[in-house]
Amino acid sequence: MNSHDFNKAAMGVLMFLLLAIGVSNLTEVVFHQDPLEANAYPIDTASVASASVADVAVDLGPSIAELMQTASMDKGKSVFKKCAACHTTDNGGRTKIGPNLWGIVGNDVANRGGFSYSNAMLSHEGNWDYEMLNTYLTKPKTAIPGNKMVFVGLKKGSDRASVILYLRSLSDAPIALPTVVAVEEVVEEVMEDVEAAMPETM
Ligand code: HEC
Repeated sequence: MNSHDFNKAAMGVLMFLLLAIGVSNLTEVVFHQDPLEANAYPIDTASVASASVADVAVDLGPSIAELMQTASMDKGKSVFKKCAACHTTDNGGRTKIGPNLWGIVGNDVANRGGFSYSNAMLSHEGNWDYEMLNTYLTKPKTAIPGNKMVFVGLKKGSDRASVILYLRSLSDAPIALPTVVAVEEVVEEVMEDVEAAMPETM
């Protein structure tokens, strides 16, 4: 090997080293990141990945519509004994500690003339549909804060469903029973909406 060839070889090695260092520095610059001590917002990816729509539905518990599928009138009448100290149920029945409940299901909140409701109840919007009755009777105190019905609530879904079924019957024209919408149907509807929103392909 003459000196010329040696120089060429040395240059080659030098170029290689420079390139290698240069590239590694460059990647360092481009991809440099401080390693995080820990995830700032720890996410349990395992549970996220395995959670499905069905799980969510189960967490919420059965809906009042579902509960009412197995509700019974006899049970409802018997549960109502807890309410009877304060509420009458006959058409035009008198006011006790609480208002008369004839025709209450589907009716406006606080619409009984002659009963002096709390401000909390008077200012509560809406009507006594199945969902609202279910929520109120679960825990009256937290459902409508400041209302004056001194009743702890009905813990068991089946008790609430049965007493609501009974309340519904206190009418000349009971409103329709609630319909159960299956989780699968909800998912299907959402999927249809998504598909409809997608741009036409070809
Ligand atoms: C200790 C007495 C008492 C008991 C027991 C009681 N309630 Fe009441 N209830 C009241 C009072 C008082 C009000 C009015 C609340 C207000 O104005 O804040 C009321 C209001 C209501 C309303 C709203 C009425 C309207 O006109 O908007 C419903 C529905 C109702 N009660 C159902 C029930 C049911 C069902 C039970 C039994 C599971 C029950 N209550 C047990 C005293 C009672």
